[in-house]
Amino acid sequence: MADVCVITGGGSGMGLAAAKCMPKDKIIIVSGRTVSKLERAIGELKELGYTAYACACDTSGRSSVKELAEYAAETGTVKNVINAAGLSPNMADPEKLLRVNALGTVYINQEFAKVMQSGSVIVDISSNSAYVLPKFLISHKTYALAETNEEQFIQKCIRKSNLAKGDYQRAGFAYALSKNFVVWYAQKCAFEFGEKGIRVCSLSPGLIATDMGKLEEKEGSAMLGYAAEKRMGTPEELGFAIASVADERNGYLAGVDVLVDGGSTNGKKFRK
Ligand SMILES: NC(=O)c1ccc[n+]([C@@H]2O[C@H](COP(=O)([O-])OP(=O)(O)OC[C@H]3O[C@@H](n4cnc5c(N)ncnc54)[C@H](OP(=O)(O)O)[C@@H]3O)[C@@H](O)[C@H]2O)c1
Repeated sequence: MADVCVITGGGSGMGLAAAKCMPKDKIIIVSGRTVSKLERAIGELKELGYTAYACACDTSGRSSVKELAEYAAETGTVKNVINAAGLSPNMADPEKLLRVNALGTVYINQEFAKVMQSGSVIVDISSNSAYVLPKFLISHKTYALAETNEEQFIQKCIRKSNLAKGDYQRAGFAYALSKNFVVWYAQKCAFEFGEKGIRVCSLSPGLIATDMGKLEEKEGSAMLGYAAEKRMGTPEELGFAIASVADERNGYLAGVDVLVDGGSTNGKKFRK
């Protein structure tokens, strides 16, 4: 059976850019909610010489994710899962952001771990927004509820987001919480799934010039002032970074978050 690489959010942006950096002997499955976008993406991949399939999935629903994992396992040996599906503050309200970005990551990691074997890898895409929250808002006890009581997890996170004033700020808090959760959850899974030989990492992009990044440019570009690279990243740069983390040859990279943000998070420490 051929090796399979599954990319959620693979119909556009950095997910699609990562697909174009994967080895061509793998079958690529791109996934997302919009079928026309997925069809365009597999057209581009086929033109580049890939074997590529589209499979629609909404990562905020466990049954949809389960179907995607089963489809991938029927197609071949699932070696790489890149979970790039996500929504940003200008796209959704706090609840939707938490359901897609946070609970979606739980469903992807849990359902794919059931069909993956030793020598495989999951890369969950977070954000450098994961690093902006004041410490008192971060509770790993609340995060643990995502596996045991989803509704309580959502309600507690929404309550924290409501501390912010204004709709955009509340969505921004929820987004940052959801992405801080992704970093924590990928680490938790790395230690649980490590016993089975499944490597798990997260990767946190800074402001990247995808459709989503352009939508967030006005609010997000303030942090570029602190960066070592004073510009938005390109989807191709992120695609290469994500594919490298997801590559089996990177087998010792586990249980960490890889921060690919042109230095904007660390730049704050050196601000004059
Ligand atoms: N661009 C940035 O500046 C930036 C910065 C930090 C982190 N990120 C993160 O990077 C990841 C990739 O984003 P991008 O910049 O490449 O933006 P993008 O082009 O908008 O890609 C996001 C993809 O996720 C899919 N998606 C959204 N909700 C989904 C759902 N419920 N189920 C399945 N697929 C869903 C979208 O397709 P459909 O709408 O068709 O489902 C879309 O193809 C996201 O997780 C994002 O939060 C981006």
